[in-house]
Amino acid sequence: MRIGILGTGPMTRALGGQLVRAGHEVVVGSRDPERAQRLSSEIGGTAGTDHRTAAQSDVVLVAVDDRAALEVVRSLTDVLDGVILVDLNNPIDPPHFESRYAGGASLGERIAEAAPGARVVKAFNTVYAEWLEPRASGALAEPVQVLIASDDEPAKATVSGLVEAIGCLPIDVGGLRVARHLENLAGFEVDLVQRGVAPYIGVRLVAGNAL
Ligand SMILES: NC(=O)c1ccc[n+]([C@@H]2O[C@H](COP(=O)([O-])OP(=O)(O)OC[C@H]3O[C@@H](n4cnc5c(N)ncnc54)[C@H](OP(=O)(O)O)[C@@H]3O)[C@@H](O)[C@H]2O)c1
Repeated sequence: MRIGILGTGPMTRALGGQLVRAGHEVVVGSRDPERAQRLSSEIGGTAGTDHRTAAQSDVVLVAVDDRAALEVVRSLTDVLDGVILVDLNNPIDPPHFESRYAGGASLGERIAEAAPGARVVKAFNTVYAEWLEPRASGALAEPVQVLIASDDEPAKATVSGLVEAIGCLPIDVGGLRVARHLENLAGFEVDLVQRGVAPYIGVRLVAGNAL
């Protein structure tokens, strides 16, 4: 599968590297194609290029600075029809890391509205880049849970397959509206970390039966 990743930050490095190892064709897109090419070479990707070329893929991960995510998607709508568009961005700001869209549509839903032809999936936003690195496996007691929300069931199944391919556990948490919860959940995790509770904190879902 050809997977485009927009942005050259820690999430692209970690997820891109894992997806290359899983046998996928990974194309990194940046505002600076030379930077994309350098990162692509480091992770063994297929190519480093601009956003538009990387977006012409089967699956596209938007992994840019969260304040730029919506604008980046808007600039690419004409090439995103039918593309599985994964939004892993967290619209959260210091000092409290609450979603800047709290009480309204999530960033994931805003991205879906901006690119009506794309098949938007919210995923990976509650997981630290460091936990997606290969060295993390073994350091964590159990596989990392990746919570996935989308109104497009086949797209959700495709992303679940990618999650499994990199050794994590996909959990279907419902439709895209649930992205509101996922963005707040990430904000809660980052707030705990920023207040020094632990270097990394992730919330795990635990299912139980009635008592
Ligand atoms: N780091 C984590 O552990 C983590 C975990 C879960 C979710 N997230 C989310 O994932 C997204 C990416 O986070 P990250 O930590 O990998 O990297 P990041 O530091 O947030 O930035 C990612 C990339 O965004 C691009 N960028 C920066 N400003 C931009 C702008 N104004 N317009 C367009 N592109 C811009 C840059 O790439 P170029 O300069 O090459 O274009 C940069 O490398 C964020 O939205 C974050 O909330 C991060």
